[in-house]
Amino acid sequence: MSIRIMGTGSCLPENVVTNDFLSTIMDTSDEWISSRTGIRERRLVKEETTASMSAEAAKRALTDAGIQAEDIDLIIVGTLSGDYVTPSTACEVQAAIGAVNAVAFDINAACSGFMYGVSMAYAYMKCGMYKNALVIGAETLSKVMDWNDRSTCVLFGDGAGAAVLALSEDEKSLGIIELEQGADGSKGMVLAGRDRMNNNPLVTNPKEPGYVQMDGQEVYKFAVTTVPESINRVLDKAQLKVEDIKYFLLHQANIRIIQSVSKRLKVPMESFPISLDHCGNVSAASVPILLDEVNKKGMLQKGDKIVMSGFGGGLTWGTCVLEW
Ligand code: UT7
Repeated sequence: MSIRIMGTGSCLPENVVTNDFLSTIMDTSDEWISSRTGIRERRLVKEETTASMSAEAAKRALTDAGIQAEDIDLIIVGTLSGDYVTPSTACEVQAAIGAVNAVAFDINAACSGFMYGVSMAYAYMKCGMYKNALVIGAETLSKVMDWNDRSTCVLFGDGAGAAVLALSEDEKSLGIIELEQGADGSKGMVLAGRDRMNNNPLVTNPKEPGYVQMDGQEVYKFAVTTVPESINRVLDKAQLKVEDIKYFLLHQANIRIIQSVSKRLKVPMESFPISLDHCGNVSAASVPILLDEVNKKGMLQKGDKIVMSGFGGGLTWGTCVLEW
C-alpha cells in the first residue's frame, strides 16, 4: 500500500493587487518589489475568509480526486490566520463541505504548515488509523500585516490550497517516499506577530497585539541553507538523486531564495515552478497552490518524482519526496 496525493485544488481571492497599485498607497515601486522578490501581484481578500477559501479549495481537490466529502476521515488545516480562535478552520471546512465523518483540526507551523500537515496525515495513514485525509494550507495574511510597514506588507498575499491523500493499491506509484520536518524555536523572533492582548486582572502591563514583523535577511539566510540541506537529507534517505526529480515545489517566499536553492543543488531553474509572481508569499498556502497549478496544467505524469519543501516562521521546515 502506498500513500498518494489523489487530487488537488486551490482558491484565490477575486481581487488582484499589483505592485503599481501598492506604489499609489505607500512609498514603494514595482521596480523595488519585483527586482528584490519576483512578486508582481498578489490576491487580497475583500469578502473571502480563511475558511471560505479553504472550503472552496477542498471541494476542488475532492472533485479532482473523485472522492465524496462524507468519505473523508481527516481534515488538517495549516494556518496562522484562521477566522476564529475556535472553531478551527478545519471544523468550519468540515461543516461547509459536509465531511460529516471527518476528524478536523488546525496546526500552526507558519509557512511549513501544509508540509507538517502532509507528514501528520501520512503518519495517521501509515499506522492504520485513517485511510484518507484532506490537507489544506490557507491564509488571510493581509489581516496580520502592518499596512504601514512597506518592508513586510508588500511581500504577502491571501489564498488556500488543498490536497487529498489516500491509501492506494496502485502498484505503478510509490506515492510518498520520504519526508522530514524540523524546527528551530531559538530563532523564532526573526518572524513574529503577537496575538490578542491578555487583560485578565492579574496582568499589569498587557502587551498590545502586534502585526507580523520580520528580519528579512535572517529569514533569507535560514532559508538558503536549511532548504537545500533538508532536500538532500530526504533524497539521501530515499536513495534518490536530484537528477531523479522532475520538479521542486518550494515555498514561494522570494525568487532569490529559489534561485539560491537551485544553484546550491545544481539544478536548473526550469525544475522550480513559480507562483509567487502572481500570488506573493501565501505562507502555508504557497506549496499546495503551486502543486495545484502544476497538476492542473498537466505538467505531472504518473511516475514523476517531485519534491515539496516549506520553510518559514517558527522557524520551521518540512520536505517530502513522492512519486506522482
Ligand atoms: O515565508 C518566509 C517569509 N520571509 C521571507 O521570505 C523573507 C526573506 N527575505 C527577503 O526576501 C529580503 O530580505 C527582503 C525582500 C524582505 C528585503 O530585501 P533586502 O535586500 O534584504 O532589503 P533590506 O531589508 O535590506 O532593505 C533595503 C532598502 C532599505 O532602505 P535603506 O535603509 O537601504 O535606505 C529599506 O528601507 O529597501 C528599503 N525598502 C523598500 N523600498 C521600497 C524596504 N521595503 C521597501 C519597499 N519598497 N517595499
